[in-house]
Amino acid sequence: MPVLKSDISIGSDEYRRNREVYDERIADLHRRRAAAVLGGPERARRLHKERKQLLPRERIAALLDPGSPFLEFCQLAGEDMYDGVPPGGSIITGVGMVSGRPCMVIANDATVKGGTYYGITCKKHVRAQRFAWQHRLPCITLVQSGGANLPDQPNIFPDDGQFGSIFYNQIRMSGEGIAQIAVVHGPSTAGGAYIPALCDETVIVRNQGAMFLGGPQLVYAATKEEVGIEELGGGEMHSRISGVTDHLAENDSHAIAITRDIVANLGEIPVQRWDVAEPCAPRYDPADIYGLISADPRVPTNNREIVARLVDNSEFHEFKALYGDTLITGFARIMGFEVGILCNNGVLFSESALKATHFIDLCCKRDIPLLFMADVTGFMVGRTAEEGGIAKNGAKMITAMASANVPKYTLIIGNSYGAGYLSMCGRAFKPNAMMMWPNGRSAIMGPDQAANTLAMVKDEAHKREGTSWTDNEREAYRAPVRKQFEDFASAYNFARNTWCDMVIDPLETRQVMALLLDLAGRLPAQPTQFGVLRM
Ligand code: COA
Repeated sequence: MPVLKSDISIGSDEYRRNREVYDERIADLHRRRAAAVLGGPERARRLHKERKQLLPRERIAALLDPGSPFLEFCQLAGEDMYDGVPPGGSIITGVGMVSGRPCMVIANDATVKGGTYYGITCKKHVRAQRFAWQHRLPCITLVQSGGANLPDQPNIFPDDGQFGSIFYNQIRMSGEGIAQIAVVHGPSTAGGAYIPALCDETVIVRNQGAMFLGGPQLVYAATKEEVGIEELGGGEMHSRISGVTDHLAENDSHAIAITRDIVANLGEIPVQRWDVAEPCAPRYDPADIYGLISADPRVPTNNREIVARLVDNSEFHEFKALYGDTLITGFARIMGFEVGILCNNGVLFSESALKATHFIDLCCKRDIPLLFMADVTGFMVGRTAEEGGIAKNGAKMITAMASANVPKYTLIIGNSYGAGYLSMCGRAFKPNAMMMWPNGRSAIMGPDQAANTLAMVKDEAHKREGTSWTDNEREAYRAPVRKQFEDFASAYNFARNTWCDMVIDPLETRQVMALLLDLAGRLPAQPTQFGVLRM
């Protein structure tokens, strides 16, 4: 297969400066991750340990097979929301190996406001379930939660995608034979109790785990009945009397051991359907990516250089290299898995959109997963573009991308604006996973364009009303708009809102893709039926 040629100057001042800025971005990413991994405040963690409980991440570590990776989803959810309370949104979600089988693990973090569910917690739990559903992964929920975080009611209670969806998804997945397993590690109230009650098989820890629809105080307030936690919903009661739980464990570690046995008895482990080649490192050092991406977001990257640093042996069978060259398309392997890559290298024109449509069709016919590497400010505008049918050609690309039933992955490696974001498999088009590099940005439009557009609207209003404003006033109006759009576009804003699954170091990309592709390849191939492609 042809090898991509590289032509960069590692010794240049510009390269060095870019690299310094990117090193700081990576340090920032690790600081954010460390804060999320720590969990709740020190006092809550101490209390947890005094109760002789394993911390949530210790539970996960004990549950996973030794050496198993843990592909964490939405780790930075909730960052800086709710007065800075919830690292990770009071829940941890990710995929790891349990008894030799990939499973989705969902663990409440009771050190964060009693493991209660904020709106963002619901979104993160539901996202983890959807990934598990799509990949038919057993869900293991490690429960210790006070249920709904009451002040956040509007974001938890009434709508689709909130707490009710967690139950709905559990039930429908169970119906489709996707195992639902829970361990009740601590007090679990209301919604926190329904989650294990709706599972196929449930373990509870003696003298620690408890589940009830209303706790002792609520029962007293409602009925004047005085009853303690253990009698109302402890492990003994639920395992011997109510039958709500199926296994009684002596402590957290014992509960985890029982859970591993449950998973060991789930039947056949699905096998990989693709031929996976021997993984092979790229010929060019992936760490060069740090210096290739400009410190100035307005300076475009030569993304052929980026592709060369992500694919095995830098081998790339490019499709239509001479046509529609603002989109690079071609076949390559990442850690041995074959992928069809669509990578922006400029604004999308009619030709690039047509090329994308053709390429997506090829990949669907050949059962090759698609990797969208987004770095795009949008589609070309203007009279020539419109006369050339950019609207119908863009629509073809979007129809092909949305219809494609091969696994799809979105990696935002730079800009991802407006319809460009959507057409490169934005979140609404349900990619199997969406990742962003720390320099990734996405919004309806760039900060300057947004500030200019809104200022022009105001210019028109002044004209209409016969008033005017000074240049200083105009700039004072533009500045906050620019700032608002800059903040919005940040990868971390996407991460905190669960609009992307993870922010990753470019150097983690190959590993993350390998884990994701391995999961997708354990499902049967799905045929694609394209929507009407407007000619
Ligand atoms: N909504 C909002 N905040 C809640 C909450 C809820 N449902 N339940 C607990 N919290 C908060 C507490 O106020 C406390 O906040 P603080 O750290 O700022 O003081 C924090 O979560 C931890 O609660 P605490 O009671 O100190 O911890 P705990 O480990 O001893 O007990 C619970 C945790 C969840 C068992 C206990 O708080 C409880 O029973 N809560 C009520 C649960 C309930 O009735 N939910 C109904 C949902 S419909």
